Formats: sequence, structure tokens, C-alpha cells
Amino acid sequence: MTSAQHTASPTPAPHDQHDGDAPCGGCGTTRRTFLERGALIGAVGVASTVGLTACTDEIRSEDNAPSHHVGGTPTQAVQLAALPTGGMTTVQVEGRTLLISRPDQDEVHAFSAVCTHQGCTVAPATENGEDVFSCPCHGSHFDVTTGEPYAGPAKKPLTEYTAAIDGDWVLVTL
Ligand code: FES
Repeated sequence: MTSAQHTASPTPAPHDQHDGDAPCGGCGTTRRTFLERGALIGAVGVASTVGLTACTDEIRSEDNAPSHHVGGTPTQAVQLAALPTGGMTTVQVEGRTLLISRPDQDEVHAFSAVCTHQGCTVAPATENGEDVFSCPCHGSHFDVTTGEPYAGPAKKPLTEYTAAIDGDWVLVTL
């Protein structure tokens, strides 16, 4: 069992889940064209990577997202004291950004924060008095107990992780 560092705000998702030919919603760039442009920039020595960097955070495909993470290591993700009943939070656990909710005293749920639309980092939010996991890129909303999308362009649920309460901790199986 290992422990995780709790963070108050989400961090950008890693770029390693980029889909080969899925276009970026913001600029239409695919991974292939991104790599080709990167090679061209390197060849001519032009340091104009701002647009490419901004776009890579969005270039992902929901086709790659499993509905439930299959793992085997229960890991301390967040202390219960930091997650009151009815609360939700973002945590960093061994390099993964996870969303955790606690709808009831003895009930917790954990999900990947990688949006199943195009891979932006989803974060807890309250909108119109309702708790949601919200994506800042194109407005997808996900249920905080099931991960199911119910607003915006995402069609697949957030990848769920097995979560449980163990003493003073929420354990997530990585
Ligand atoms: S990346 Fe498009 S809604 Fe999240």
C-alpha cells in the first residue's frame, strides 16, 4: 500500500493517451500531423511551438478509454478527513489524476480525470447547485457517482477505478 499526494486543483493530463488520427477539437490537428509539424520545426529551427503545445492537451480519443480500470494495488489516495460526506476532490496518485467523490458516509467513487471526449482534465465543480465533474474544454459534464456523461460532447463515461474506505483513508486500486 502506498500513499498519494492530495492536490487542491487538477493538473493537465499527460500526453501519452493521444490518438493517432483523432482531430483536436480546438485546432483540427491529429497526432500524425502534430509529429510531422514538430519534425519540420526541428529541421528549420523555428521555435513556434506554442500552438502545438496548447493543442496536444486536447488531442485524445474516447475510443481508447476503458469503462473500468483493471488494476491490482490498493493505494492510499486521500484521507477521509479531506473528503467530507457529500464532497469531491482531485488527487494525484502515482502520476494519475483521479476524481474522487463521497456521496454518503460509507460510499466513495474514483474516476480518471481524463475526459473521454478529447482528453482534457476534468475537475469537480458545482453548477446550478449540483455537484458535477466538469470538463473545461468543451463543457462535458459527468455524474460524480457513475462517471456517466450527461451534457456536452463526451459520449463515454469516465474510466472508473475501484475505490473503498479503509480506516482513515480512501483506497483506490491502481
Ligand atoms: S475534451 Fe472535449 S469535453 Fe472534455
